[in-house]
Amino acid sequence: MTVTADSPVDTHAEAPAARRELSARGLRLAYEDRIIVEDLDLDIPAGAVTVVVGPNACGKSTTLRALGRLLKPAAGAVLLDGADLRSLPTRTVAQQVGVLPQSPQPPEGITVGDLVARGRQPHQRWWQQWSRDDEAAVEDAMRRTDVTDLADRYVDELSGGQRQRVWIAMALAQGTEILLLDEPTTFLDISHQVEVLDLIRELGEEGGRTTVAVLHDLNQACRYADHLVAMRAGRIVAQGAPSDIVTAELVGEVFGLDCVVVPCPVTGAPMIVPGAPGARRSGAEAESKSATDGADTSDG
Ligand SMILES: Nc1ncnc2c1ncn2[C@@H]1O[C@H](COP(=O)(O)OP(=O)(O)O)[C@@H](O)[C@H]1O
Ligand SMILES: [Mg+2]
Repeated sequence: MTVTADSPVDTHAEAPAARRELSARGLRLAYEDRIIVEDLDLDIPAGAVTVVVGPNACGKSTTLRALGRLLKPAAGAVLLDGADLRSLPTRTVAQQVGVLPQSPQPPEGITVGDLVARGRQPHQRWWQQWSRDDEAAVEDAMRRTDVTDLADRYVDELSGGQRQRVWIAMALAQGTEILLLDEPTTFLDISHQVEVLDLIRELGEEGGRTTVAVLHDLNQACRYADHLVAMRAGRIVAQGAPSDIVTAELVGEVFGLDCVVVPCPVTGAPMIVPGAPGARRSGAEAESKSATDGADTSDG
């Protein structure tokens, strides 16, 4: 293959020079008539790790799906470099934004190697179905997620943790500058959790890649996030650097949990230690409150 200085090169290994900016303005997300997320403004810092936290059912996955164009906003818009995501060609979006949903379903009877390879689809052309770049991206993604040895296994037969790493490999193989990961560490044992989170950080540091991840573990969120977004009942309660925003008061407000916040002995990031066993606040109902329940609307 001859590459001249001015010919376009598939830069799957490194992020392109111009960083893509992902943002949302006035986002309202609903399932039929039920509003889940209301009036959400968000700026995802390019080349950094953003982590979204919040109680169950507060709208984290819904928000992530909208950011990845898997869900159409009821109002407002998601913007990629200022352009409404819905106005961009599907292929363009797929080359720039990769999404790992919370519970992806593998096609029946697919092998690990074939599933990871599907991540390359947005890069393929009818005249060149499979290139050396595709091969290299797949191999690299499998190596980094420690699934190379599983290549010939059926995805259905893997453990939850193995399967999760295969999905991450597929998202990585897609080689997008922006990666949206919904609970990527669920099902993983602690060392694989750390491995995946370290990898996410590396992608930002080496390649300038932008990641948005939903995480359940608050301490991991504080440890790995450059930018932390705390949601409750479909709204953003606070966002910023973990050390700037995480306080016992915020954790109480978002999760209804009594806790103390101390500096992590290893990183210095805020570390949340729940109060004495059994001391969870009574009457704090952080869960399952829809965006409209607490909203100050006169017409509902
Ligand atoms: N496909 C769907 N259809 C209808 N309601 C949904 C759907 N997906 C999620 N919901 C509802 O939207 C709310 C927010 O869900 P979700 O965004 O998945 O929360 P989280 O990821 O924060 O746990 C929940 O009340 C959930 O039941
Ligand atoms: Mg979720």
